[in-house]
Amino acid sequence: MATIRIMPETLANKIAAGEVVDRPASVVKELVENAIDAGATQITVEAGTPVYRSIRVVDNGTGMSEDDALLCLERHATSKIFTEVDLGAIRTLGFRGEALPSIAAVSRLELRTRTREATAGIRLVVAGGVVREVSECGCSPGTQVWVRDLFYNQPARRKFLKAERTEFGHVGDTLLRYALARSEIHFSLRLASQQTQEWPAAASLKERLAQCFKTHGFPSWLPVSSRNGDLRVAGFLSPPELHRATMQTLFLFVNGRPVRDRLLNLAVIEAYRTLLPRGRFPLGILFVELPVERVDVNVHPSKAEVRFQDGRELFETVTRAARDALTTGERRRWERPLAAAQERRAPVEEIQERLAISWGEGRQAERDAVLSAVFSAPAADTVDKSATPEAGGGKDPVISAEPGFGDLTIIGQLLNTYLLCEAPDGLIIIDQHAAHERVLFEAFLAEMTSASLPRQELMLPETLELSAAESAWLVEALPRFALLGFVVEPFGPTTFVVRAVPASALRDEPLALLRDLVAEGCAGVGQPGTDTMMERLLQLLACRLSIKAGKRLKVEEMRSLLRHLDGLDRSSTCPHGRPLWWKLTIRELERFFGRA
Ligand SMILES: Nc1ncnc2c1ncn2[C@@H]1O[C@H](COP(=O)(O)OP(=O)(O)O)[C@@H](O)[C@H]1O
Ligand SMILES: [Mg+2]
Repeated sequence: MATIRIMPETLANKIAAGEVVDRPASVVKELVENAIDAGATQITVEAGTPVYRSIRVVDNGTGMSEDDALLCLERHATSKIFTEVDLGAIRTLGFRGEALPSIAAVSRLELRTRTREATAGIRLVVAGGVVREVSECGCSPGTQVWVRDLFYNQPARRKFLKAERTEFGHVGDTLLRYALARSEIHFSLRLASQQTQEWPAAASLKERLAQCFKTHGFPSWLPVSSRNGDLRVAGFLSPPELHRATMQTLFLFVNGRPVRDRLLNLAVIEAYRTLLPRGRFPLGILFVELPVERVDVNVHPSKAEVRFQDGRELFETVTRAARDALTTGERRRWERPLAAAQERRAPVEEIQERLAISWGEGRQAERDAVLSAVFSAPAADTVDKSATPEAGGGKDPVISAEPGFGDLTIIGQLLNTYLLCEAPDGLIIIDQHAAHERVLFEAFLAEMTSASLPRQELMLPETLELSAAESAWLVEALPRFALLGFVVEPFGPTTFVVRAVPASALRDEPLALLRDLVAEGCAGVGQPGTDTMMERLLQLLACRLSIKAGKRLKVEEMRSLLRHLDGLDRSSTCPHGRPLWWKLTIRELERFFGRA
């Protein structure tokens, strides 16, 4: 065996770079974090084409002295922590002292920096981690890091880079996260020296969100603000009628740091249970603040993961905060701008799709036109200021004063399916089946929390014949069915005796209903969580027992349905997540008829 030796520092840095820098976007992430830590109020990111050829991040932060500039390229050189105690209480984005040496090890890097007091700047030229040149230079106070030919000395890494548009997309996504984290900083993104995206310093998170998400129906997002001891949750979440196929538009921050965290994701999703269609996810942004000692940010070199000391408490606090926001949103429903009406396509989705139309070489102008259209500057006046109060701030909505469903004037029934109602500022259309389904579902859920649903014994027990798979499933699920009100006993391998059914199901065909529940439940085997299974059974029960579309209703029946809706915390979608009501505002009508 060969003798053991300490590896040269350039090699160590190159190895460390493997974890810190895996694509152009991670260079942007590290450099932008440094700029933020340096107190910059303006940060510009310029990307070349392809991005790995050239990435430049310019900030107007504190800058560095000549000594510091030389030192910052050394591994473990940092101005942010010095002791082990510091490591337990990190308040800056950086702290590992390895980003700059890592980036320098796998690129040609030029650093220009100047402190406010210095009369001239200092310029360092580095290649593959080795300083080649140190000189004075003219530059404005702050720091510019120019990274060229990323992975020039790691051809294998370069091969793993994705299509150009993907890499640029990641750069845009990365910058967006920091722009959301720090509304007060002016961020710019340029692609091949074209201005592509501009987020001027915003006075509030709300203003920043209006810049970033006007195509995501932002004005209708619901403010979240809640506190539990020294745990604080604030932000905005989409109303139930607005959702996406992925969780990419749910942005989470812990003590100001953008994170990807399963626990927090699930906590938010939990609040939306039965409000969204299956496989759909909310949009939004949440800031979680907690004492720095209670969260470990030193989990991975990329610092995007965190560990919490008390995950359970955090989970519950976040779920409760999100649920409160949704409930308050329900109470303010008539004045809330309807998300669906404002929604345009998401910039990220749009850019990905539009860029996917393959670009021929030399169609630069067209490409730039699309980019600038997608990233066009926001029009601030499209935001309805009255509708969404500041997150975390000020006045509580006056809940009791809000009109409810019960206050609507019933105009009549359309197609024996929709209730037409008059609200102070428009026409409300309610899907009678969806509405009744939600009412029943919530009632069942409430009854279940204390005991089982009321049941009715059958005078003559009935027998039920099932398939082998269904029988096996039902045997396991019998206690749950008893909670629903179905008293069922096995009577042979695939035969069951039904002794009682839910009282509410008596008028329908309870046996057929039971059969459907079993089929549905059995088909859902492997779905996570037993509570979810119960919930699905309740959904199906509610669906089967509720008023069907096409049924003529008496005015008293309509009124009773509306009153029942008012008693609920969740009344914007049916338990399957389909919308339950829709509003045509007077303004829309007037615009249509040319009166406005
Ligand atoms: N844009 C910048 N402005 C001012 N100082 C910077 C900047 N970038 C890096 N530095 C200095 O260089 C040090 C090393 O940076 P880095 O390698 O990213 O490690 P870390 O951010 O973990 O400290 C920082 O601690 C900071 O003092
Ligand atoms: Mg850093």
